[in-house]
Amino acid sequence: MGDFLRFNARKTGNRIERIDVSRIQLKNLNKSYSGGVHAVRDLNLDIADGELVVLVGPSGCGKSTTLRLIAGLEEATSGEIYLGNRLVNHLPPVERDIAMVFQNYALYPHITVWQNLAFGLKMRRIPKPEIQKRVMETAAILAIESLLDRRPWELSGGQRQRVALGRAIIRRPQVFLFDEPLSNLDAKLRIQMRAEIAHLHHRLETTTIYVTHDQVEAMTLSERIVVLDRGIVQQVDSPLNLYHRPANRLVAGFIGSPSMNFIEGRLTEGIFHSNSCHINMSGFPNGPVILGVRPEDFITDPVGPYFADVTFELVEHMGHETIAYFSRNGTQHVARFAADVSHTPGATIPLYIRPNAWHLFTADDAGKRLNETIRPMNSG
Ligand SMILES: Nc1ncnc2c1ncn2[C@@H]1O[C@H](COP(=O)(O)OP(=O)(O)OP(=O)(O)O)[C@@H](O)[C@H]1O
Ligand SMILES: [Mg+2]
Repeated sequence: MGDFLRFNARKTGNRIERIDVSRIQLKNLNKSYSGGVHAVRDLNLDIADGELVVLVGPSGCGKSTTLRLIAGLEEATSGEIYLGNRLVNHLPPVERDIAMVFQNYALYPHITVWQNLAFGLKMRRIPKPEIQKRVMETAAILAIESLLDRRPWELSGGQRQRVALGRAIIRRPQVFLFDEPLSNLDAKLRIQMRAEIAHLHHRLETTTIYVTHDQVEAMTLSERIVVLDRGIVQQVDSPLNLYHRPANRLVAGFIGSPSMNFIEGRLTEGIFHSNSCHINMSGFPNGPVILGVRPEDFITDPVGPYFADVTFELVEHMGHETIAYFSRNGTQHVARFAADVSHTPGATIPLYIRPNAWHLFTADDAGKRLNETIRPMNSG
């Protein structure tokens, strides 16, 4: 929805009371800590009003630092942070109208869920009837109405997490920042809460940045994922583009589980040569390169380029798929097959690569993607 419409809606009062356009813009944002760590480097990001963006990357890449900068818990070394049209670099956290939910959410242990929810509003001197109304609304959204009289220790982990979310949404902030909010929950609860957060976002349409380590969470929550590494944005793209067209080797290796296989080699006159294989790949300059193959793109049908005869060292039958490990020249690789293959450890079979499903990267540190492989989305 454009600014004009939002403004209009506000004037006519037929839309939820959103006071401002809550776009987030980060411009050349930098954060260096005194120890010399450059945690965030020249970060540029534009998040639309009402959008949910996921931030992923290896441990220590600057995800939490980025959120803390936006929330005002850290001061930027340089660069600009805009919320709506306001430059907020020098605004204290309370004036930024942002709610942050941490991995280790803290509820006040000695007071009830009702009081935990109401706490922030009381501090802001919101009138009692309004607090009562908002607590009931929030409890209804999160389905915790029956828990309002309990104290935190009388709740399950998932219920506590819901109360923590409730404390964030009851404020009706312009922006939500979630820093791995589900990482303390068990697998089943995570899936349930993931769905609830997605639902909540559809309902409230609050601009949100969601940090996670969990790839499935990242791939399912958002249409736009930001991949950070060593404080630098590597790629901002849709889940499928990150998977099928990673911009560089870092992204290729980070997205997907098990990870993409990398094979060092050299291109000479249109042929990729490595110790493992020799594959025709015309149209690229001669020189050292790295070939990337996703586990599921090793196939046993000879319909693509021949890779090598490999001997499986370990075979994991997962039920819905089979994961098989083999080594080439001291490097372990992994292949993923359909559920019903009967490969066993010690078996030697010829492997091929699914046609056009390989990725080619430069061999330098940048590891930039060289090919335009467009794997048809409908190919199995
Ligand atoms: N207060 C601090 N003082 C000095 N260095 C810090 C401080 N906070 C974070 N760092 C460093 O900044 C870098 C980024 O840290 P950050 O917490 O943002 O990473 P992260 O991506 O959130 O990692 P994780 O996935 O492990 O939570 C790390 O190298 C970290 O050690
Ligand atoms: Mg973190």
